[in-house]
Amino acid sequence: MRKVLAALLASAMVFSLAACGGGDKKETEAATEAPATEAPATEAATEAAGDTEAATEAATEAAGDTQAAPAANGEGLKIGVCIYKFDDNFMTLYRQELQKYLEETYGAEVTIVDGKGDQAEQTNQIDNFISQGVDVLILNLVQASATETVAKTCADAGIPAVFINREPDAAELERWESEGVAATYVGADARQSGTFQGEIILDTANKGDINGDGKVSYIMLIGDPENVDAQYRTEFSVKALTDAGVEVEELFAQRGDWDQAKGQELTANALAQFGDQVEVVFANNDAMALGAIEAIEAEQRKMNEDIYLVGVDALDEATAAIKEGRMTGTVLNDHIGQSHTAADVAIKMANGEKVDTKYTVDYVKVTE
Ligand code: BGC
Repeated sequence: MRKVLAALLASAMVFSLAACGGGDKKETEAATEAPATEAPATEAATEAAGDTEAATEAATEAAGDTQAAPAANGEGLKIGVCIYKFDDNFMTLYRQELQKYLEETYGAEVTIVDGKGDQAEQTNQIDNFISQGVDVLILNLVQASATETVAKTCADAGIPAVFINREPDAAELERWESEGVAATYVGADARQSGTFQGEIILDTANKGDINGDGKVSYIMLIGDPENVDAQYRTEFSVKALTDAGVEVEELFAQRGDWDQAKGQELTANALAQFGDQVEVVFANNDAMALGAIEAIEAEQRKMNEDIYLVGVDALDEATAAIKEGRMTGTVLNDHIGQSHTAADVAIKMANGEKVDTKYTVDYVKVTE
């Protein structure tokens, strides 16, 4: 089963990487198509949820498959990595895999620093890396809106930049393309993850309308309103319902900064205010969803009977909760595929190769 799964995931990723070669337009088309294709990846995910380890292994194998032969030797290359904040569940998995892969596959010298959620501090860290003369930078910016300034600083210093996780504006990506800037973005298309969240709700027995009043009443736990992942997940999860002709009612939508404790607090507040009216909890990520579980259980609500909950990331704790019937579903945010792609592209750029301006890795639905 693992081999089959690996092959399915690999083909999903190849499709995604191939789809992004031609820049932004194709990218958007691929994004709109992907959720509708209900690709083999979906089936793979359903199987995978039962076996988290298998899913992770499959993703690793799959990622390995798309990279095939490493482009060039990374021996002796100095790579600076800036992470927006170490205290983030998903980015912790991402950075650990990134470091391991860069060191083991390429023999590169990797230094990773913690931006502590402070753009000014991170800008200093970038300046330090530049004065140390690193060969390439991998950047998970605190504020995606700082991309243009940072890209210009890197270009002036002649250092290629790989932006990860927080998608820059389309206009900035076009500038890199038209001006031949040595910069690229590696991430996932958050529209797809939002759509998958909505589809998970549509796949429930009553399409999310538990009380049968003709509409789905939901609360939305928002990651960070400045972040494109948060914006798209918020928009596209609900859009999947309305596109399917389902009426919706937003009871509550507040920012939880991707954080478990805040997810708990917001859900507790929403349940205190709206009680049984809440049929669906959409969380922009699993950390907040895990917080929501605590609040839902404190109110003695019955998961998948009188309330549904979906997240994004497929953290181990979330897939375990799904298996135990304490959460409805999540969407795999493939930190392995993304970190390996970012590393491969960084090595190519450090060796002077030209790369595309954008690479995306597919999300995968995960349910019981
Ligand atoms: C992940 C979140 C994470 C965020 C950080 C998102 O893609 O789903 O869990 O907090 O990235 O930027």
